[in-house]
Amino acid sequence: MKLTLKIWRQKNAQDKGGIVEYPIDGIEPDMSFLEMLDVLNEQLINKGEEPVAFDHDCREGICGMCSLFINGEAHGPDRGVTTCQLHMRMFKDGDTIFIEPFRAKAFPVIKDLVVDRSSFDRIQHAGGFISVNTSGNTIDANTIPINKHDADKSFDAAACIGCGACVATCKNSSAMLFVAAKVSQYALLPQGKIEAVDRVLNMVHQMDHEGFGNCTNTGACEVECPKGISLENIARMNREYLSASLKG
Ligand code: SF4
Ligand code: FES
Repeated sequence: MKLTLKIWRQKNAQDKGGIVEYPIDGIEPDMSFLEMLDVLNEQLINKGEEPVAFDHDCREGICGMCSLFINGEAHGPDRGVTTCQLHMRMFKDGDTIFIEPFRAKAFPVIKDLVVDRSSFDRIQHAGGFISVNTSGNTIDANTIPINKHDADKSFDAAACIGCGACVATCKNSSAMLFVAAKVSQYALLPQGKIEAVDRVLNMVHQMDHEGFGNCTNTGACEVECPKGISLENIARMNREYLSASLKG
């Protein structure tokens, strides 16, 4: 395949940045999108040019690192996959592909296509955990009976990989789907109920503090989420928040 890549290049956080065009040839349809970028970078390095910086780690749809906005869509044109699972067969020979970083005030660009998503880490630190005594007397989690429906819903919420596509897709740069997934994961289980009030209040407070926008129920986040995190988690978080506010 012969393609024209239009890639966002930005030296550092202070640089204004801009789109740079790169023609590329010899791309196989079975290559992943990141492998295609690897080919480009090899060519740039051989020419003595600076390779394109982009985030990746597992390349298996698990870590949530590969945050690219491809032709105006977070993780590109396929559904239910991350950028690392996107294949070049989703594009046609001769296509022009625009590749940009995820854009949001709370995700500042570090370099080229790499953004700083440590705001997500700080939200997690604010409450995305349970406190358990791990001094050697830990009770096996399976000894606590859990309703199958709740266990399944909790597992579905826990599938969130913190990629940030929901934020990049949302016209308000809202992080509600991400935070709702993290709150729901614990709210549905007995182990999560003990700290439920503090958790939802603290995580929502941190989300607002980081500069994410408000949710206006457009649902774009659910469409672009590679892990199929449902909007019903946002409704659950709103209920948790209301109840916690009344108690708090
Ligand atoms: S909710 Fe979906 S899109 Fe948002 S961070 Fe989690 S996995 Fe990514
Ligand atoms: S590189 Fe880990 S999810 Fe894509």
